Amino acid sequence: MRRVVFNQKGGVGKSTITCNLAAIAAVQGQRTLVVDLDRQGNSSRYLLGDGADEAAPGAAEFFETTLKFSVRTPRTTEFIVATPWENLHLMPASAALDDLHGKLESRYKIYKLRDALLELEDEYDAVWIDTPPALNFYTRSALIAAQACLIPFDCDDFSRRALYGLLDSVAEIQADHNRNLEVEGIVVNQFQSRATLPQRTVQELIDEGLPVLQPYLSASVKIKESHETACPMIHLDPRHKLTQEFLALYESLG
Ligand SMILES: Nc1ncnc2c1ncn2[C@@H]1O[C@H](COP(=O)(O)OP(=O)(O)OP(=O)(O)O)[C@@H](O)[C@H]1O
Ligand SMILES: [Mg+2]
Repeated sequence: MRRVVFNQKGGVGKSTITCNLAAIAAVQGQRTLVVDLDRQGNSSRYLLGDGADEAAPGAAEFFETTLKFSVRTPRTTEFIVATPWENLHLMPASAALDDLHGKLESRYKIYKLRDALLELEDEYDAVWIDTPPALNFYTRSALIAAQACLIPFDCDDFSRRALYGLLDSVAEIQADHNRNLEVEGIVVNQFQSRATLPQRTVQELIDEGLPVLQPYLSASVKIKESHETACPMIHLDPRHKLTQEFLALYESLG
């Protein structure tokens, strides 16, 4: 299954959710690949720590090869590295993605990621794609390459209003490029169960018929430690409440 984690809004938990669910998939024996398409490289750093600095070649170099016509086409696996975690591989991101963006867009390379991931179908059971906080070439490539889309939601009222535009963007890609794309659901993140406002905001989504996934992910300072130590929650603290929520969310995806 190829999944994309997408929300144009920054800081809603895309990278955190991508890496933690992918880490759980890997622990459960799925051969798992994380594709980091965000030039910030947060997922790359989360999974590799300081090793992310030397991790090239990655996504930028992969896309760069699609711009060059060459007799020897490199295999996509050349742009993938192992992480410290068993069964968990990564196509890392770097700031070089910025420089390529305009060229990739003007030369219609939007299907290249999908083609590359299809070629890897025998090598990976699960692919998780982390996207930048924008609807740009990379995000569109990911939505075209994926079979399912998860939308992190930060319980903010502005975000709730923005969800409809976001779902329209996904629907447009479905209609024009990828009929197989399914909106798997909205992942409620940083949920504060004791505050009434987030509860009301999430209830509104449910009442409006949007696919809100269970359980909600709690806000926890442990996430900071998890990022800083480059250690996904399932490895850092398997019994932690948030880890249990990630596990239950993962199970609910089937
Ligand atoms: N459940 C959580 N509890 C506490 N903090 C969280 C939680 N989820 C995410 N955060 C924090 O929120 C910030 C943003 O998270 P993250 O980087 O995963 O979001 P993002 O959507 O990938 O951001 P960007 O759009 O910049 O790529 C981080 O500092 C992270 O530590
Ligand atoms: Mg991110």
